[in-house]
Amino acid sequence: MMSFDLFASEIVDERISIGPGAYVLRGFALPYVTQLLPAIEAVEQQAPCRHMVTPGGFTMSVALTNCGRLGWTTDRRGYRYTETDPASGLPWPDMPPSFRSLAKEAATAAGFDHFEPDACLLNRYVPGAKMSLHQDKDEQDFSAPIVSVSLGMPAVFLFGGHARADKSQRIPLQHGDVVVWGGEDRLRFHGILPLKDQPHPLLGSQRINFTFRKAG
Ligand code: SIN
Ligand code: FE2
Repeated sequence: MMSFDLFASEIVDERISIGPGAYVLRGFALPYVTQLLPAIEAVEQQAPCRHMVTPGGFTMSVALTNCGRLGWTTDRRGYRYTETDPASGLPWPDMPPSFRSLAKEAATAAGFDHFEPDACLLNRYVPGAKMSLHQDKDEQDFSAPIVSVSLGMPAVFLFGGHARADKSQRIPLQHGDVVVWGGEDRLRFHGILPLKDQPHPLLGSQRINFTFRKAG
């Protein structure tokens, strides 16, 4: 009889299965890096990364911004998607074409065809920054996957279950890795352990992560 081991990783080409609808695509973003870096700079010129405050009153250790039609924000009133950057009142920067094609190709490689992201959240981590376990559940469409791209310093990704207290897998992520989770894994808890200072040749003492969603 077949049984699924939640904590086993199975290597299929460069695609590592970490759940029934979740994969790590090792190095998938590497061919895009020369296009991504100037595009990130352009996004940040229009909408700089900033430390947002959670509804509970904590300032996030990660600095974030967005591109695409919708952008994720948090403040004392809650988490939500907005069409404009609350810091400037302007629409979020357009999603760069290189971002969009990477997101679509990674989704397809993980078995999710026709991914049409309308939001991209960009997180900047410095040593010590972390992301506590959470679910991505502010989106309206859970039928679309989350596509998450890692650049710069390595990090340990926590991939938990459907309840906060479920045991998490610890998955080391390197520059160029992409994680995709959707289907029955779409609402799994996940997070990032506090980053060690292991400077990256291109990006120095920082890690940049961007996650694509279908939010609206
Ligand atoms: C997130 O869950 O928004 C970020 C995950 C990561 O930084 O890899
Ligand atoms: Fe998340």
